[in-house]
Amino acid sequence: MDNEFLSIEDEQEMPEQVWSADQTEEPGSVHWSTDAQQELPKSTITVEASGLSKTFRLQGEVIQAVDEVSFAFTEGQFVAILGPSGCGKSTLLYLLAGLDKPTSGELMIDGVDVKRLSGRQEYRFRRQKLGFVFQSFHLIPSLTALENVMLPMELKGGMTNAALRERARTLLGQVGIDDSRHNHKPGKLSGGQKQRVAIARALANNPRVILADEPTGNVDSNTGKRIVQLFKQLAEQGRTVIVVTHDCSIASIADVRMKMEDGRITVMENYQPPANQKPLVLKKKGRKR
Ligand SMILES: Nc1ncnc2c1ncn2[C@@H]1O[C@H](COP(=O)(O)OP(=O)(O)O)[C@@H](O)[C@H]1O
Ligand SMILES: [Mg+2]
Repeated sequence: MDNEFLSIEDEQEMPEQVWSADQTEEPGSVHWSTDAQQELPKSTITVEASGLSKTFRLQGEVIQAVDEVSFAFTEGQFVAILGPSGCGKSTLLYLLAGLDKPTSGELMIDGVDVKRLSGRQEYRFRRQKLGFVFQSFHLIPSLTALENVMLPMELKGGMTNAALRERARTLLGQVGIDDSRHNHKPGKLSGGQKQRVAIARALANNPRVILADEPTGNVDSNTGKRIVQLFKQLAEQGRTVIVVTHDCSIASIADVRMKMEDGRITVMENYQPPANQKPLVLKKKGRKR
């Protein structure tokens, strides 16, 4: 494994907060220094769900995709979400990402109750706080690798074109995409390269939380291992990394393993509720949805 792939630094300053004037100050740039672990208060909760539920109604059928799920994850934690197909893993991740709205329950991201934000505030807030990596990459086919990574920064605004281009180049280098591929469109990249571009894009706005839905599902096993290592390192540097996976290598390397069944959490391995959090209540099996 080459070190370049894993060496991640970040000089980007956190942009001004836009969603509320009275938010607490963010640690910002310390996140990416190599000895970040000493500098960060690891008990800071970044993602907190309380009784989070999502019900779909489809042709008269009620599907309880996520059923009163509660947890609190902190900075520096690498969480694997496991469970059989259809148990609600993706739906839960979409709720955390704001790509879907919960039917009920509470969700705090980095201490902010996202329900209290207006649509526009929430959009900007999530764009800054969260990075999402999809199994099938979701890169924009008409843009080059570099332009795909530049896009979230362009949408956020506040950077010169030269600055965001330079940052995109740096991020691509850090995930192991060398210069010769920066101007390639996704169609010219392998699955592993596309996923690494997608990870660089997810990191563009320096998010506190990385969410990934089966990120190694469409890459070969060697590339998968490198991607797992990259996620691990992102967590060690202070991000909260939550990955939905069937991949044993991700599950074994994760700090916390959360297993789901029928929309509920059935097992939480190595989970310690942060100080001043209630112990987790796991739902008993056997209730039909
Ligand atoms: N948009 C939707 N409309 C209706 N049902 C949905 C929708 N999305 C997911 N579901 C249902 O919710 C359940 C959980 O799906 P999903 O979260 O995709 O599971 P997983 O990612 O664990 O495979 C499944 O029964 C699925 O069919
Ligand atoms: Mg899924």
